[in-house]
Amino acid sequence: MTNPILTIENLTKRFGGNTAVSDINMDVMPQETVAIIGPNGAGKTTFYNMVSGRMQPSRGKIILEDKDITGMPPHRISRMGVSRSFQINNIFPDMTVQENVEVVLSAYHGHSRKLFNIASRNTEIQNEALSYLERLGIAELKDRRAEVISYGDKRLLEISMVLATRPKLVLLDEPTAGMTPEETRRTTKLVKKLAEGGHYTFLITEHDMGVVFDLADRILVMHRGEKLFAGKPEEVRNHPEVRRAYLGDEDEDEPTKGVNA
Ligand SMILES: Nc1ncnc2c1ncn2[C@@H]1O[C@H](COP(=O)(O)OP(=O)(O)OP(=O)(O)O)[C@@H](O)[C@H]1O
Ligand SMILES: [Mg+2]
Repeated sequence: MTNPILTIENLTKRFGGNTAVSDINMDVMPQETVAIIGPNGAGKTTFYNMVSGRMQPSRGKIILEDKDITGMPPHRISRMGVSRSFQINNIFPDMTVQENVEVVLSAYHGHSRKLFNIASRNTEIQNEALSYLERLGIAELKDRRAEVISYGDKRLLEISMVLATRPKLVLLDEPTAGMTPEETRRTTKLVKKLAEGGHYTFLITEHDMGVVFDLADRILVMHRGEKLFAGKPEEVRNHPEVRRAYLGDEDEDEPTKGVNA
């Protein structure tokens, strides 16, 4: 039997009297794509913050493969293979698109980011960087300065930088937020292809229900910190309480768009 890549046990976060995440239990299997959805304030970001080590849980455990990572600092968790996409402010605007990935790779290979310079570029790292850009469909932008590429391409660059850390588990925080419908379609297709390639496990929060239903193998629905429901997309779509609390019951066929997840 396959073991989960991530096991969440009784995960809880309290801020004073407010319980932002309440007693969540969940397994994520290798190569699965799990979406976390829920209305504003449901606790999604807090959940991410605990898994990535930015916040200490009040209670509960986070287990990566067989290692307890609960409460570890972010850099250790990221070294253990949990990579989280941030907004595009992680990108070095003055470097080229390819150099941005090279910086991540050279850090991965043990060179400090501060010491990274063009002189230290080697063919192996260059080729590897290019292969990540190819996976995200932005290889033709490799020599452009990162600052000048479109918003959607910046977010794809960001994902290629995340993948360059060779994560076991990728946390994508609203990967299509702020994108045009065309960029959203393109990004969804790319993430889907990566997921189907079988090398990555994704946890995704996303406000666009079309993207969620397209990508997720399983969906965790949170409501006021609690697990309202977890199941396959079609189960979530048909769950009366979920529809009432979150999806809105008026449109039967069209998943609700623009709800903040
Ligand atoms: N650092 C903090 N200090 C105090 N309360 C917090 C903190 N971070 C989050 N909260 C509270 O925890 C609850 C869950 O917030 P969280 O940001 O996790 O929700 P969310 O599901 O990500 O919402 P959104 O869809 O708006 O991003 C909210 O009531 C929020 O006010
Ligand atoms: Mg949030």
